[in-house]
Amino acid sequence: MASFHVFFSTFFFFFLLPHISSAAVICQTTSCDDIVPVKFPFRLKSSQNRSCGYPGFDLSCDNISRTILSFPKSGDSVVVRHIDYSDQSIYISDPDRCFPGRFMRNFTDSVSPNFLFDSLENFTFFNCSSSNATMTSDFLYMPINCLSGDEYTVWIAQTVYVEAFPPPATCRAISTAMFPYLRYGIVRLIWGKPSCGGCVASGGDCALVSSASPDVGCFNVPSNGGLPRSAKYGIIIGVGIPGLLCLIGLSCYLCGRIRVYRRRHNPNTQLTSINISPQRSVLAMGLDGPTIESYPKTLLGESRRLPKPSDNTCPICLSEYQPKEELRTIPECNHYFHVNCIDEWLKLNGTCPLCRNSPDGSALVTPSSLSSSSSTSLSPSL
Ligand SMILES: *[C@@H]1O[C@H](CO)[C@@H](O)[C@H](O)[C@H]1NC(C)=O
Ligand SMILES: *[C@@H]1O[C@H](CO)[C@@H](O)[C@H](O)[C@H]1NC(C)=O
Ligand SMILES: *[C@@H]1O[C@H](CO)[C@@H](O)[C@H](O)[C@H]1NC(C)=O
Ligand SMILES: *[C@@H]1O[C@H](CO)[C@@H](O)[C@H](O)[C@H]1NC(C)=O
Ligand SMILES: *[C@@H]1O[C@H](CO)[C@@H](O)[C@H](O)[C@H]1NC(C)=O
Ligand SMILES: *[C@@H]1O[C@H](CO)[C@@H](O)[C@H](O)[C@H]1NC(C)=O
Repeated sequence: MASFHVFFSTFFFFFLLPHISSAAVICQTTSCDDIVPVKFPFRLKSSQNRSCGYPGFDLSCDNISRTILSFPKSGDSVVVRHIDYSDQSIYISDPDRCFPGRFMRNFTDSVSPNFLFDSLENFTFFNCSSSNATMTSDFLYMPINCLSGDEYTVWIAQTVYVEAFPPPATCRAISTAMFPYLRYGIVRLIWGKPSCGGCVASGGDCALVSSASPDVGCFNVPSNGGLPRSAKYGIIIGVGIPGLLCLIGLSCYLCGRIRVYRRRHNPNTQLTSINISPQRSVLAMGLDGPTIESYPKTLLGESRRLPKPSDNTCPICLSEYQPKEELRTIPECNHYFHVNCIDEWLKLNGTCPLCRNSPDGSALVTPSSLSSSSSTSLSPSL
C-alpha cells in the first residue's frame, strides 16, 4: 500500500502539478494541528509572510496547538474548528465554552467587518434565583450553566416567545442579544470578501496577485495544466478499487490465520467465550415490534422544543435533534432517543441504554464487564 502511495504522489506531482505563476503570492498550506488547513485568505501570523493572507484573516496557534482567530474590534479570540474554503465559512468554538456569555457582551458586532453570522435570533437572558425557580414552559428556556452561580441560574429564551410564555416572577431579564443557534457549542461565520469560493471549488489557488496589491486572483486552475477531473476519477476507480479489494482479501486471510493460531495455542480463549455467552444471552433479550411500537413517540416541531431542554442530542447516534424528527421515549425512565436509533437498540436489548431500566420497572442486573463494554460503544468517539 505504501508503494501505491508513493507511486500516486509521484504521478500526481509530475503530471498534475500546474504551473506556478511568478507574480502571485502563493504560499504553502500550513496548519497548527494538521486538522485545520490554513491557506489564503488566512495565514499563520507567526510563520508566514504578511502577503500570504488577506488583511484581517490572521490566525495564530496557541500553546496547545489550537488554531486561534482574533477579532481586532474587540480583542475576542475564538478557536477555529473547521474552515470551508469553497463555502467561505468558518466554524468556531469558544475557548471558555461559554458562547452565550460572549454574545451577552456584544460578540455579534465584534466579528465585523470581515465576518458575519448568517442567521440570528434575538434571545433574552434571565437571572433567576435558583432556590425556587422552576420554569413553567421549560422547553423554551435553556439554562446557561457557565453564567450561573450557586444562588442563581441564568436562562435564555428566544425573545419572540417570552411575552406569550413569561418566566416565573423570581426571574429578572438582564440582557437581550442577537445570536445564531449553537450546535455542539460551534458557531458558523461567513465572509464575503475576498471572494475565493469559486476558485477553490474549481481546484485553483486563490491568492493576492502581488505582494503590493490588495487584489485577489485565481491561479493554477487544474483544467489549464493537468488531467481533466474525469480522468483523475477514472484512475482512482481503475486502480484504487482493485487495490482496496486486494487489501480486504489479504486482511481476511490474515485474520483467519490468527484466529486458527490462537485457538491452537491458547485453549483458554475457548473457556472465556463459554463464560461470556450466557451473560450475553441475558442481555440480548430484545423486544418485538409491537412492544416497541407501543412506546410513546413525539414529533418535534419546527422550534425543536424538547421535553427536556438539556437533552438536545440523541445519546445513541450522538446527533442533535432536528425539526420534524420523531423521538421515542422509554416508559419509566423518560429518556429520549431518535426513533430509528432506539428501535434498533430495543430489538437487541429490552432496557433503556442510559438507565438500564426495562419498562416493567425491573432493572436488569448487568454484568459489569459487559455493561462497561456496551457503554464504551455508546460514548462519543472524539
Ligand atoms: C514577504 O514577501 C515579499 C515578496 O515575496 C518579500 O519582498 C518580503 O521580504 C517578504 N517578507 C518577509 C517578512 O518575509
Ligand atoms: C497555555 O497558556 C495559558 C495562558 O494563555 C495558560 O493558562 C496555560 O496553562 C498554558 N497551557 C500550557 C499547557 O502550557
Ligand atoms: C455593540 O457594538 C455596537 C457597535 O460596535 C455598538 O454600537 C453597541 O452600542 C454595542 N452594544 C453594547 C451593548 O455594548
Ligand atoms: C432583534 O431585536 C432588535 C431590536 O428589538 C430588532 O431590530 C431586530 O430586527 C431583531 N432581530 C431579529 C432577528 O428578530
Ligand atoms: C444574578 O443575580 C444575582 C443576585 O440575585 C447576582 O449576584 C448575579 O451577579 C446575577 N448574575 C448575572 C449574570 O447577572
Ligand atoms: C421564591 O423565593 C423568594 C426568596 O428567595 C421568595 O420571596 C418567594 O416567595 C419564593 N417564591 C415561591 C413561589 O416560592
